[in-house]
Amino acid sequence: MAIRQSEFPHDFLWGASTSAHQVEGNTHNQWTVWELEHAKSLAAQAEYHYKDLDNWDDIKAQAKNPDNYVSGSASDHYARYKEDIELAHSLHMNALRFSVEWSRIEPNMGSWDSQAIAHYREYVSKLKKQGIEPVLTLFHFTVPVWFSEMGGFEKRSNSKYFIRFAEKILTELGGDIRYVITINEPEVYAFESYHLGHWPPGAQSKRAALTVLRNLISVHNQTAKMIHSLHSRYKVSIAKNSNYFYPGDDAVLSVKSAQAMQYGQDDYVLKRVVKQCDFLAVNYYFSHRVYGYRTHNPNEHVSDMGWDMAPADLEFVLERLSRKYKLPIIITENGCADSSDAKRQWWLKETFGAMQRALKQGVELQGYLHWSLLDNFEWDKGKWPRFGLLAVDYTTQERTVRRSARRYGEVVKKIRRI
Ligand code: FCB
Repeated sequence: MAIRQSEFPHDFLWGASTSAHQVEGNTHNQWTVWELEHAKSLAAQAEYHYKDLDNWDDIKAQAKNPDNYVSGSASDHYARYKEDIELAHSLHMNALRFSVEWSRIEPNMGSWDSQAIAHYREYVSKLKKQGIEPVLTLFHFTVPVWFSEMGGFEKRSNSKYFIRFAEKILTELGGDIRYVITINEPEVYAFESYHLGHWPPGAQSKRAALTVLRNLISVHNQTAKMIHSLHSRYKVSIAKNSNYFYPGDDAVLSVKSAQAMQYGQDDYVLKRVVKQCDFLAVNYYFSHRVYGYRTHNPNEHVSDMGWDMAPADLEFVLERLSRKYKLPIIITENGCADSSDAKRQWWLKETFGAMQRALKQGVELQGYLHWSLLDNFEWDKGKWPRFGLLAVDYTTQERTVRRSARRYGEVVKKIRRI
């Protein structure tokens, strides 16, 4: 990776990202309940969903096993976080995005678990000791069972419970926190959970999905105001998934459709939250090539999950969002499922190039957090997709630093001049 130090600001955040339910293990929330109910049927449908993947033979046994769909001990990060943070430090990271698990902190409505709060306080203090900036996420797709039984984010009047939880966490951990992400990928959550029905509560209603999305927008705005009223040092954002849409030919229809898709995806949410964002948190995974009304990707490089890999297009996402919203940007997720670690190094190299070009174009880019620090439970796909810089053996919980991660660490070391 040819990197010129000067292109990245000296205080650039270099690190990785995780979410509580995907790595901690032994959580009890609406996802845990749903996994146990759906593991068998997800395993039975695996062949139908994944048989066309190039790596089907490699993942078949896992994908057809119901255990794959139960998070269980996941990567046991709740118990092993010290080791994981030390590994992040050894890779020269200076930032880590993580989420706090609401169901641990408030297992029953209105009652706080002091041990869980103490755990996250120690977690943040461990990060600080290792010179790692915590980037805190408050909602990353999981809620306590009691909250989902009350209708979750589908009911606007339930927002107050989330805001109360957010206030509690910031009051308890706030001294060491600067960056706060209120909500992760609001549309992904609203549509997967309430329209496509792939995720709990499994609803299939466009109306419900739109209601949830609007409520999440309002939750962000109220939570951000509350956080800003606590202290002016906080920098708050929503983590916005942003794919890149481009026309596959110069037909007017393709050009207009790609523009409309980009607008629909980015701007519906962003224009409604931008006043309550101090920076933009951007999650980038893929691009869509648009012909007429449809997407048809080149599929030249494909990840283990069949996602078209176009890491260099990150540049265009960054440039568009920066031009339009005029805020600093932190990339809060970016990465690929690559169990053999054959493509991750290439992905990183292309991504670094895209960031350098965006910086040269004047984008105020402040950080890069790779998804993920370690192999994680990948929602309805379960454990076979491997996104980690650190490989996890789910039987022994042993961590291995992947080759690409070592290379990432070396490049960061060089850029940070350490
Ligand atoms: C994002 C999610 C994250 C992870 C990655 C692969 O949409 O925010 O939890 O699942 O995709």
